Amino acid sequence: MTDMKATALKPSNIKQLAGSPNLRFVPSNYVHSTNLNHDDDGDDSNSIPIIDFSLLTSCDPNQRSTAIHQLGKACQDWGFFMVVNHGIPDNLMKAVIDCTDEFFNLPDEEKQEFSGKHVLDPIRYGTSFNTSTENLFFWRDFLKVFVHPHFHSPTKPQAYRDVVLEYSKKLREVARKLLGGVSESLGLEESYLDKALDLESGLQVFVGNYYPPCPQPELTMGMPPHSDHGLLTLLISNQVGGLQVQHQGKWINVNALPNSLLVNTGDHLEIFSNGKYKSNVHRAVVNNKVTRISVVTAHGPSLETIVRPASPLIEKENSPSAYIPMKYKDYLELQQSNQLDAKSCLDRVKIPRN
Ligand code: OGA
Ligand code: NI
Repeated sequence: MTDMKATALKPSNIKQLAGSPNLRFVPSNYVHSTNLNHDDDGDDSNSIPIIDFSLLTSCDPNQRSTAIHQLGKACQDWGFFMVVNHGIPDNLMKAVIDCTDEFFNLPDEEKQEFSGKHVLDPIRYGTSFNTSTENLFFWRDFLKVFVHPHFHSPTKPQAYRDVVLEYSKKLREVARKLLGGVSESLGLEESYLDKALDLESGLQVFVGNYYPPCPQPELTMGMPPHSDHGLLTLLISNQVGGLQVQHQGKWINVNALPNSLLVNTGDHLEIFSNGKYKSNVHRAVVNNKVTRISVVTAHGPSLETIVRPASPLIEKENSPSAYIPMKYKDYLELQQSNQLDAKSCLDRVKIPRN
């Protein structure tokens, strides 16, 4: 038996590699910097903001304004929060995780049928992040599906279509309501953001991530530090930890409250808010015991929207626009053509200040 130390391997997916018998070492092209050991990871999980969604939808104006204030503060201080009392049934969330698991357990040939190449392909199964621009890989397989404004679905597993259709519809309502609160927290009308960014035709992408156990988790990464391109991303998982968010220069392990939705702010919310709500930088680490599955649903403007900072913010606060207007679709292509590296794409639309 040959061991795999220092061998560069390019498997079609990480599930297959992780499943190879006697895999004791991480292949060299999966090894990230040598000082990746996650010893300095903080554990201030307790201080992560919690948003009670039922207050945000309350008829009591005091409760609502408290919730909006908390939401704005969470966006500004963390770019990350947990949402409770969101009304998405527990069994629906479980069904979503289960059918995502089933998808990754399909035979290889069947999954390969869905291996799209382009960032705008509506169904894209793949591994790592972008194997065409990277030499270094990540311990992750993914399935990305556009579920709005047009709903797509792989044909297998059988339950997938109905489960994901129902989940994405319900989640979109939650995301739009949250974005209404975000809009108000910026001093705008509740519907301002919705209209300006054409959320009626907004892009919603359903992403299943599969992180199998890794023999040397401290040497590699499930996903590198990055920010998401959209407005708000909502995440659930199979209750296995691995997500870390950056807060005040430290990595915080996220221990999700049971059945909560984990939410992070994306690049287009940073642009829209003219930099007030910075997009959150996060990453996923892996472990040597169990497979982690996360389902990440990204909510963005419509693909044709040209996103720029909201004009009332610029006029009111007399602060010049800090970002170059760009069509959302073009931004997605720009991000895909680059290595995933923290906020490198957003930096390209930032207007330097002296
Ligand atoms: C993502 C992401 C983190 C996770 O898919 O954009 O950040 O915990 N995933 O899977
Ligand atoms: Ni992300």
